[in-house]
Amino acid sequence: MADAKYIRRAHISDIGEIYEVIRENPTEVLPRSYQDILRNFDRFVVYDDGSIKGVISYQVMPVFDIENPDFAVEIVSLSVRRAEHGKGIGRVLLLSMIDIIKAMDPHRIIVLTFYPDFFAKFGFVETSKEKLYQKIYQGCLNCTKYRSPLTCPEVAMELVLK
Ligand SMILES: CC(C)(COP(=O)(O)OP(=O)(O)OC[C@H]1O[C@@H](n2cnc3c(N)ncnc32)[C@H](O)[C@@H]1OP(=O)(O)O)[C@@H](O)C(=O)NCCC(=O)NCCS
Repeated sequence: MADAKYIRRAHISDIGEIYEVIRENPTEVLPRSYQDILRNFDRFVVYDDGSIKGVISYQVMPVFDIENPDFAVEIVSLSVRRAEHGKGIGRVLLLSMIDIIKAMDPHRIIVLTFYPDFFAKFGFVETSKEKLYQKIYQGCLNCTKYRSPLTCPEVAMELVLK
C-alpha cells in the first residue's frame, strides 16, 4: 500500500512526468499544457517512490464580494497512473493537499468530480453547482467538453472548513 513518506512538493524538474500522469486520465482530468504546469509547478504535490505515480494541485477561486469574502480553494489535477489505482496513492495525495490548503485558512475546499464517493470518504459533501459561482466564472465558461456547467456530469463537492 502507498506510504505518505513518498509525498513531496513538486520540483521544477518534475514537469514532464506531471504532464504524463495527468494525460493518463483524460476523461476525468483536464489535460494541462507543459507551460501551464511549469508556471504552476509550485502548486503541485507528487507521489514519488522512484518515479512519479500520482499528482495533485489546487487553484484559488476568485472573490466577488470583497467586503464579505468567501475564500474557496479548488482541488485540481488529481491523477494517479492507471496501473497504480487502488493502492492508496490517491488517499495520501488528497490528505496531504487538504493539510496544505487548510494552512491557507480558506472557508472551504471545493472539487468537481466524477467520483463523489471517493471524496465523500474524506468529508466532502455534495453541493449545488450554482453555489460554486466562482468556479463557473473561472473555469466552466471556457469548457469545450459540455455545453453548460449545469448539465455537465461532474458532481460539485465541498469540504466546509469554517
Ligand atoms: C480517483 C483516484 C484519484 C483515486 O486514487 P486511488 O489511488 O486509485 O485511490 P485509493 O487507492 O487511494 O483509494 C482510497 C479509497 O477510495 C476508494 N476509491 C478509489 N477510487 C474510487 C472511486 N473511483 N470511486 C469511489 N471510491 C474510490 C478506495 O476503494 C479506497 O477506499 P477504502 O479506504 O475504503 O479502502 C484515481 O483512481 C484516479 O486517478 N482516477 C482518475 C482521475 C480522477 O478521477 N481524478 C479525480 C479528479 S477530481
